[in-house]
Amino acid sequence: MKRNILCIGAGYVGGPTMAMIARQCPDRRVTVVDINEARIRSWNSDTLPIYEPGLDEVVKACRNRNLFFSTDIARGIAEADIIFVSVNTPTKTFGQGAGLAADLQYWEKTARLILQHATSDKIVVEKSTLPVRTAAAMSRILHSGETTVHFEVLSNPEFLAEGTAIADLTNPDRILVGGADTPAGQAAVAELVALYAAWVPRERILTTSVWSSELSKLAANAMLAQRVSSINALSALCEATEASVSEVARAIGMDARIGPKFLRAGVGFGGSCFHKDILNLVYLCESYGLTEVADYWRQVVLINDYQQSRFVAGMVRAMFNTVAEKRIALLGFAFKADTGDTRESPAIRIARLLVDEHARVVVSDPRALDNARADLADLGERVLFEPDPYAAAAGADAVAFLTDWQEYRQLDFARLLKNMRHPAFLFDGRNFLDPAALFRLGFNVHAVGCKPLSHLDM
Ligand code: NAD
Ligand code: UGA
Repeated sequence: MKRNILCIGAGYVGGPTMAMIARQCPDRRVTVVDINEARIRSWNSDTLPIYEPGLDEVVKACRNRNLFFSTDIARGIAEADIIFVSVNTPTKTFGQGAGLAADLQYWEKTARLILQHATSDKIVVEKSTLPVRTAAAMSRILHSGETTVHFEVLSNPEFLAEGTAIADLTNPDRILVGGADTPAGQAAVAELVALYAAWVPRERILTTSVWSSELSKLAANAMLAQRVSSINALSALCEATEASVSEVARAIGMDARIGPKFLRAGVGFGGSCFHKDILNLVYLCESYGLTEVADYWRQVVLINDYQQSRFVAGMVRAMFNTVAEKRIALLGFAFKADTGDTRESPAIRIARLLVDEHARVVVSDPRALDNARADLADLGERVLFEPDPYAAAAGADAVAFLTDWQEYRQLDFARLLKNMRHPAFLFDGRNFLDPAALFRLGFNVHAVGCKPLSHLDM
């Protein structure tokens, strides 16, 4: 039987994951719906709403063949057999749990929409990242009406990372499917497993209880972010002791039990999920009275905030304890390379802290300048935006690299330096440039967790 697939939420997860399913399963009809008409228009155009290497090709190969983008949510629900829900689950900004808990209003509205428009049995798949036991709430809403339709709720969290989404989806480390331990639950699990088995080796598809699946997603993000905070905490100690954090990371990462990944020190983690998912985990622990466990995970976020303030404090200190009226070019605003996404980007906080110090901030980024303008709109004329990195750096006292874009490695640094004010400072917030070469050119180089290379008497 050819089963129709619907995804509610055409964002960073919904768009790429459904495009991949459509490509790998040409006999399935996959529809992605969203309440945001502009976003759907963009998915149907030549300029997709998100930048992700390789995404254009996948979408173009399937769109209007077995992949459709639409705003007709009611029709999508009525026609679907399997419904993925991939709406946003941001941190709550009001009421109980404000600043910590996940805001489940979009999620609940979606559940009610499904209930309203479903006329046949559905498998409802949680793709969004959700607090543990949300599936139970979802199931209660779905079965709250007079309907005889049966809804089986599964958890199938997404582990893709932005910038590598297509590679991650093509060759995932694992696929996780959580379902109820009932005949209907296990039948639904088997159906989702069969869908992924079209391209993912069976041994990489894990099946668990719903609760384990929901918690594993929060736990995976917390563990990854914890590694970043651990190496960033050590970077502060390296700066105090003149050890090099890159050398330390290399030495510890060669221990097979530790491994080399997620040990790059820098300005801290950003992105839409690490921050919100850890806070969500903290809130869950607090709700269960696990105060010590909550405090443990909260510290991962606190170190991340500290790393950003520490970075700015280091800039001010290096530049003779004042940056007032100095032009500072921030090169890179996306939260990581190969994405235009700036959600929770460390650059947002760094730009604001520099503006508080009365610096004249100029932001540059190859992909994220529109988002940067929106993020800093309230600062008005106090921040400038300049796509060309050389123009951004012209007349500047300092350049600070906040995203490790590949094209920044290839910059003509002598040309950059020539038009800057002297002494010129270069702050490498991602530890991805060659400090010795830059120092030789004439820059005063400050990289995270490394001894500064300065031409000035310190
Ligand atoms: P997003 O904000 O890019 O997309 C969510 C979309 O849902 C938006 O376009 C929004 O308009 C739409 N939406 C909201 N309510 C709706 C409704 N009632 N009906 C139809 N559409 C609705 O978010 P995202 O980055 O794709 O993340 C979605 C979920 O996936 C989150 O829970 C997130 O934690 C999780 N996740 C994200 C990533 C990532 O890399 N961004 C990776 C793994 C998991
Ligand atoms: C992360 C996870 O890697 C995904 O598995 C997960 O699905 C996703 O969150 C999610 O739930 O949204 P993402 O945030 O897209 O993916 O990107 P990462 O590569 O994890 O990077 C996150 C942040 O950590 C970036 O700001 C990055 O620059 C920073 N980072 C990463 C470091 O500072 N050092 C490192 O060594 C690694």
